[in-house]
Amino acid sequence: MKQNSVYDCQIIKLPKIHSDAGNLTAVNNSSDIPFDIQRVYYLYDIPSGAERGGHAHRNLHQILIAASGAFNAVLDDGENKKIVTLNRPDYGLMIVPGIWRELNEFSSGAICLVLASEKYDAEDYFRDYEIFMDVKS
Ligand code: TYD
Repeated sequence: MKQNSVYDCQIIKLPKIHSDAGNLTAVNNSSDIPFDIQRVYYLYDIPSGAERGGHAHRNLHQILIAASGAFNAVLDDGENKKIVTLNRPDYGLMIVPGIWRELNEFSSGAICLVLASEKYDAEDYFRDYEIFMDVKS
């Protein structure tokens, strides 16, 4: 996690099955994404102007998907920053361990769907930016 950079956080194109009655995206462990999914969660009913995130993870890999609407992910590896706009349900942003992230600019009705490589573990979080920076330097 120490060496991971924002350039290791890539957009992954997910499969889209199109029909005249709408689209469908299915995500299969290890083939459509590079890890086994242990947990799925989603952010919704996000008030205008709210920011989420504000932390980094020690071991967790995640894929963020704008299942509805749009939002920005601001990624920071302690040296470089990258802002990624997510606004399509068939694109996911892979975030590797050791990346500070803020989520902002949520559109009305946005849903941020997260596929995670581990079950919830409060000990996996860095919630203090100074401590995160110490570990990355
Ligand atoms: P947090 O990860 O800080 O949310 P975000 O990054 O979207 O701002 O989690 C918010 C709260 O929800 C915190 O009290 C921990 C809890 N939580 C769980 O209980 N299980 C989970 O899988 C997640 C992601 C959070």
